[in-house]
Amino acid sequence: MPAIVVVGTQWGDEGKGKIIDVLTERAHFVVRFQGGNNAGHTLVINKKKYILHIIPSGIFHPNTICVIGNGVVVDPAVLIEEINRLKKEGIEVTPQRLKISERAHTIMPYHQALDLAREATANKKDRIGTTGRGIGPCYEDKVGRRGFRLIDLTKKDFFRERLKKILEEKNFLLKYLGAEPLDFEEIFEKYLTYGQYLQPYLCDTSTLLWEAYKKGDYILFEGAQGTFLDVDYGTYPYVTSSNTLAGNACAGSGFGPSHINAVLGIVKAYTTRVGEGPFPTEQTNEIGNYLREKGGEFGSTTGRPRRCGWLDLVMIKTAVQLNGITGLALTKLDVLSGLERIKVCVGYKLEGRPISYFPSTIEELTKVEPIYEDLPGWREDITTVRDFEALPQQAKDYVRLIEEYIKVPIQMLSTGPERENCLILKDPSF
Ligand code: GDP
Ligand code: IMO
Ligand code: MG
Repeated sequence: MPAIVVVGTQWGDEGKGKIIDVLTERAHFVVRFQGGNNAGHTLVINKKKYILHIIPSGIFHPNTICVIGNGVVVDPAVLIEEINRLKKEGIEVTPQRLKISERAHTIMPYHQALDLAREATANKKDRIGTTGRGIGPCYEDKVGRRGFRLIDLTKKDFFRERLKKILEEKNFLLKYLGAEPLDFEEIFEKYLTYGQYLQPYLCDTSTLLWEAYKKGDYILFEGAQGTFLDVDYGTYPYVTSSNTLAGNACAGSGFGPSHINAVLGIVKAYTTRVGEGPFPTEQTNEIGNYLREKGGEFGSTTGRPRRCGWLDLVMIKTAVQLNGITGLALTKLDVLSGLERIKVCVGYKLEGRPISYFPSTIEELTKVEPIYEDLPGWREDITTVRDFEALPQQAKDYVRLIEEYIKVPIQMLSTGPERENCLILKDPSF
């Protein structure tokens, strides 16, 4: 059975959660490997909407085990709240079904306070537009070797000593940024309780996945964010603080690269972005408004309106290279129904000359001019279409143009938020 990595090819919110939920029908494991509760993965099941921030999107299939890997940063308060919310909805979330890496790092209250204070004190042009969840400061501490792993919350004396030292420095920084210092006792007591609550869920998830692999289980790796939010290859510094690329599924879960069979890239039929940073095909006009309203493009985590624009195939081609993508899932094609004309970016010009790459600097990226193909749209509602051939000719042409340009097969086509609104053209697991 396969091990498949699913990643976003744009700036996040491509519909990864929905596709993972559809694929989970047959998977034994769904594994998050990076990011934290900056993610918001929305699933619509029988008209009911669920937003997951930290628990993998496989949780609605009762026979699947969900794993939070070592590369994830976990806000224990948010995780516990999410577990309890799901339980109230009648979803079984037990230590048998949810496995959390003891090595995953903990988002502490000072991480969130620092994230918010830095954004609040930055000039407009230096602001990243983060989700304010403490993600960046937590990864800084992990790499700076000042972090707490979830397992540390169960070691009372060790935790007390280390927290005392670390908090002193954090409070100094918070004061410098004009924010309130935090109280040691309050954090210490609260996080010990979190540690106790989470202890039954903690394990060595690498060993768990290794055993599963040897048994021949089907494992899905669920990326968060998207390729152009990657800390190395995204539009730096307007990125998140983890590697979002498929390669990090391995380091972020302790799973060897030679065991991965396929990489599925999720492509939204147009482009969106939340937060600051360059966006070559952005439409700050009635087209952008149309996409935002029709596509419900408001952040699942922060509720912010998402910036919207045309599909950018230069980005998708770059994403194929960076992730080793073997198949694509095209989502939200239904949102384009009703547009008179549809544009697709098939190249960039920089200072009047065509370029064949995605620039690495913000300076160049803000200057590139998209080269568009201009296609006729279609009027028909396509949400109920269950067969590719039944799509309007213009929609088929749009899909084929993407495939021809990218040279990777579109294996899944999503035409609405529900599980049923999905055409599987070729099952990515074979
Ligand atoms: P993720 O972060 O990549 O999982 O994506 P989000 O959940 O943040 O955003 C995708 C949104 O689009 C969610 O509200 C989904 O319910 C919705 N969605 C997913 N696929 C489709 C689709 O094919 N058509 C429509 N209309 N909505 C979709
Ligand atoms: P999913 O998994 C879209 C963006 C933020 C900001 C930048 C840095 O739902 O696709 P951070 O809080 O990570 O330090 O913010 O990254 N961002 C996302 N945008 N979807 C996400 O996740 C995102 N997670 C972070 O808006 O621009
Ligand atoms: Mg999202």
